[in-house]
Amino acid sequence: RRHVLSLEDFSPAEYETVLQTAASFQEVLSRRTKKVPALQGQVITNLFFEPSTRTRSSFELAAKRLSADTLNFAPGTSSMTKGETILDTAKTYLALGTDLMVIRHREAGVPQAIAQEMDRLQTNVGVLNAGDGQHEHPSQALLDLLTICNLLDPKVPQLSLLKGKKVAIVGDILHSRVARSNIWSLTASGAEVHLAGPPTLLPRWFADFVAEAEKTQPDVPRKLMMHWQLEPALRDADFVMTLRLQQERMTQHLLPSLREYHQQFGITGDRLKLCKPDVKVLHPGPVNRGVEISSELMDDPNFSLISQQVTSGVAVRMALLYLMGSGKPGGEA
Ligand code: CP
Repeated sequence: RRHVLSLEDFSPAEYETVLQTAASFQEVLSRRTKKVPALQGQVITNLFFEPSTRTRSSFELAAKRLSADTLNFAPGTSSMTKGETILDTAKTYLALGTDLMVIRHREAGVPQAIAQEMDRLQTNVGVLNAGDGQHEHPSQALLDLLTICNLLDPKVPQLSLLKGKKVAIVGDILHSRVARSNIWSLTASGAEVHLAGPPTLLPRWFADFVAEAEKTQPDVPRKLMMHWQLEPALRDADFVMTLRLQQERMTQHLLPSLREYHQQFGITGDRLKLCKPDVKVLHPGPVNRGVEISSELMDDPNFSLISQQVTSGVAVRMALLYLMGSGKPGGEA
């Protein structure tokens, strides 16, 4: 595929390809020389219109490990401050010879709009969504998938490892593009996905989402439930994915307050006693320590996979860039 904008239309075969390619790059990254010449001569441009630490740095590192040349755009130091539009910015990077664009924006749909423009101009440029508003964050869900699969079988990460596992996604589901992408990938794997959060932070799109999934992928028996309480989601869970309270996207006064939220939905060592004994905790980051997860739990290597998620991000992003870039002249198939 030329663009990766959403996981909605990802097929099981595509998940497997990404997992297996990422696993082979994990092997490369474990060597002393961590670089391969796969995308030598290609230009990968990070267009981040919204702040990022993990995603931008790991896409840049992934591109460098593949020997591509990288360009990094930040709006505050760009000609957007003089009024240049998003599409004109993208076209400028196209004229500079960009082969792949990695795009983050606070509004849903911007990566799609740029991809559409690249197609309209009949270019070969691929567009990768690095998080758009409350829509999707596909590479985050794929790195979460790899992190979980690595734990279940370090040798052969594959989608079927998650079949029958219970995954609780807890917190600010309403604003979370990470939750949306993870719902697609986790339910496609056969995992049982339980969403939990205060009613004010649960999505209005849930019913539409389920109906749409049944329409577009009728043969995937999705196990997806939503709860207003934490307990039914955590009970016997194999994995707990906590989400950041996205206060920057909340226009109204936060309900519940941060203190109330932590009391009701904060993930702590005590609360994990409801889960399976070998439960693991994920968080896409950045974390509000002591709000969605206790500081002790976040740093506890017996439970927390947060560092592994960041590390997995490099291999997954190498896989995505490689698979998208290798079909082009100059790339190695
Ligand atoms: N998980 C994630 O997208 O983190 P950043 O905002 O730091 O990229």
